[in-house]
Amino acid sequence: MRIAIGADHGGFELKPPIIELLKTAGHIPLDMGTHSPDPVDYPDITRSVAEAIQQGKADLGILLCGSGVGASVAANKFVGIRAGLCHDAFSAHQGREDDDVNVLCLGCRVIGSSLALDLVQIWLKARFSGLERHRRRLDKVAAIEKENKLLPQD
Ligand code: RB5
Repeated sequence: MRIAIGADHGGFELKPPIIELLKTAGHIPLDMGTHSPDPVDYPDITRSVAEAIQQGKADLGILLCGSGVGASVAANKFVGIRAGLCHDAFSAHQGREDDDVNVLCLGCRVIGSSLALDLVQIWLKARFSGLERHRRRLDKVAAIEKENKLLPQD
């Protein structure tokens, strides 16, 4: 799969090992930056990853920041993005199986590199179950997204 990966300065250190893992597993990583430890704003990196998915250039995305929180908040503002901050194995596979998470967010000041690499693998191996109840819930999420797009944006 083509996987867009982006990190701010808080997640920068973990990007190279995750890219290596993706390559070893036969995926095609698309490196959306950042490319130095200098501070950058996580919404900018998030935009690059989210738009790569929206434009069909990537199938999935991975976002790395200090806590994972800012990136997940920003990513979920993009139509069609279902970002999940998953710091445990159960959330990493269930987030994909039930919620069809298409962007995995990790907080690199919270978890270590071994756990981060495990979580990426667990999330990538999981598949959306397609069960009716989960489709129904995701349809409701999409309906919320649509309703909010129709609201005046001041
Ligand atoms: C950057 O200092 C930090 O705020 C960012 O990496 C992230 O943790 C935000 O949620």
